[in-house]
Amino acid sequence: MGIVTTKEMFEKASKGGYAIGAFNVNNMEIIQGITEAAKEVNSPLILQVSAGARKYAKHNYLVHLIQAAVEDTDLPIAIHLDHGADFDICKKCIDGGFTSVMIDGSKYDFEENIELTRRVVDYAHEHGVVVEAELGKLAGVEDDVNVSAEDSSYTDPDQAVEFVQRTGCDSLAIAIGTSHGAYKFKGEPKLRFDILDKITAAMPGYPIVLHGASTVIPEFVEKCNKYGGNIPGAKGVPEDMLREAARHGVCKINIDTDLRLALTSAIREVFVNEPGEFDPRKYLGAGRDAIRDMVRHKIVDVLGCNDKI
Ligand code: G3H
Ligand code: 13P
Ligand code: ZN
Repeated sequence: MGIVTTKEMFEKASKGGYAIGAFNVNNMEIIQGITEAAKEVNSPLILQVSAGARKYAKHNYLVHLIQAAVEDTDLPIAIHLDHGADFDICKKCIDGGFTSVMIDGSKYDFEENIELTRRVVDYAHEHGVVVEAELGKLAGVEDDVNVSAEDSSYTDPDQAVEFVQRTGCDSLAIAIGTSHGAYKFKGEPKLRFDILDKITAAMPGYPIVLHGASTVIPEFVEKCNKYGGNIPGAKGVPEDMLREAARHGVCKINIDTDLRLALTSAIREVFVNEPGEFDPRKYLGAGRDAIRDMVRHKIVDVLGCNDKI
């Protein structure tokens, strides 16, 4: 198959009522854990790279590791820039082998967001790359942007239609109550499916993206707490809400926090049970296995994108 854009994946997902998992990658073990799971259950994948990941692991290392995973698995895999903050980082990723970029202009006002997104779309489309944009503000922390719950805002459905028409973006991330990180809801988890439904009714079949979609899986939180530092009050998006979102036109579901928790809890367990262990293959290998099992569960039991190649 090879490195692909998200175009065909989204067309099939939208028709089939399922979503593609977009998993954040930062190193070899994370890439291997995710791609091993996808291989086992025959699933397309989006591997996404944040500015922080590019800084940590370096652009070329990540692209080559993903290329190696494609050779190893023969799966259709898209390489996506997560939360591109400006034209420059999008251009670097388009020129550097990515097949999809996100331009996140959600911190700007409507007109500025349109202008920036349009500029990225023009350049990306000239180079065969697809573009995800964002309208509405999610709460939470990503790199150096920290949006408080008070400053977050839901996506306006009428603006979403105008935004897509005027920018030509290929998919749109919307704010319906999710947020980044491990602390998503103060009270009971609630997503604004009414807003999602208005947007999909106005643009049938158009790919909608859900950021901040980790479940903050209790098993990993408990394990992290049992074997070390405390992660108090963590609360994520329940899996049945993610299934519902996939049935309601969400084609891409972003997961990073659950990967971090899977990896960290497994590594902590090794260090506590075997304090003398200092072979990185033992603890990183345990982390990779935990990621593989978690991603397989997400693909099969939540996203429904298994056997969709
Ligand atoms: O949305 C943010 C992702 O979880 C990436 O996090 O910017 O710390 O790599 P990062
Ligand atoms: P989580 O923090 O919920 O995993 O969200 C990740 C994300 O949206 C990456 O863009
Ligand atoms: Zn995000």
